[in-house]
Amino acid sequence: MAVDPIRDRRVQYETDGLDVADVDADPVVQWRRWHQDALDAGLVEPNAMTLATVDTDGVPDARIVLVRGADTDGLTFFTNYDSAKSRQLDDAPFAAATFGWLDLHRQVRVRGAVTRIPEADSDAYFATRPRASQIGAWASPQSRPIASRAELDTLVDRQSLRFADVETVPRPPHWGGWRLVPAEWEFWQGRPSRLHDRIHYRLTAGAWQMTRLAP
Ligand SMILES: Cc1cc2nc3c(=O)[nH]c(=O)nc-3n(C[C@H](O)[C@H](O)[C@H](O)COP(=O)(O)O)c2cc1C
Repeated sequence: MAVDPIRDRRVQYETDGLDVADVDADPVVQWRRWHQDALDAGLVEPNAMTLATVDTDGVPDARIVLVRGADTDGLTFFTNYDSAKSRQLDDAPFAAATFGWLDLHRQVRVRGAVTRIPEADSDAYFATRPRASQIGAWASPQSRPIASRAELDTLVDRQSLRFADVETVPRPPHWGGWRLVPAEWEFWQGRPSRLHDRIHYRLTAGAWQMTRLAP
């Protein structure tokens, strides 16, 4: 039978193992450790996480966003508050997210409640963005149908003109941050023969409980 590049692709994960004793008692500290490893390894977009939400019919949706903050308060990302994801989060304020640091044979999963961050924090982050991205945030009606690339260019030109004489582009009211506050984390390390290591954390009575899960 011919080799099928999808069905027959197999990579052995020969990386070091992961035990409860190896990971930090605080999952955010552990995430930061692995994120630093991803940075050190020169991975493309170590901040990228696939964010899953559900729509009003209970049908899941998922897309990549970039994490811009990770601390004991949770994982922060920025987007358009009128986008599909934001409307889904307004209706069902819970999400799951996955980091795939595949060159390191690592995956991190989180689940938890999602809340909007304070407006002042969105203002502060927006101010750090390049001007073209700030204009783009005003111009793009994210997730809505748009007739053509030319229409998008026209919207951008209109906003560029509008702010031409303005030194500091203000944050649009429809743009800002969300914070995913994990109640669960899972750190996955690929191992030989698909016998991978999985360390799961669950917040129980204010403390993180760690458990090993079968691969
Ligand atoms: C690498 C990468 C990073 C992205 N980062 C963001 C982000 O931080 N915020 C965002 O709104 N969209 C980001 N996007 C675009 C989203 O994946 C998505 O297309 C957009 O947010 C609209 O999603 P929605 O219609 O489900 O709301 C990113 C896409 C990729 C591939």
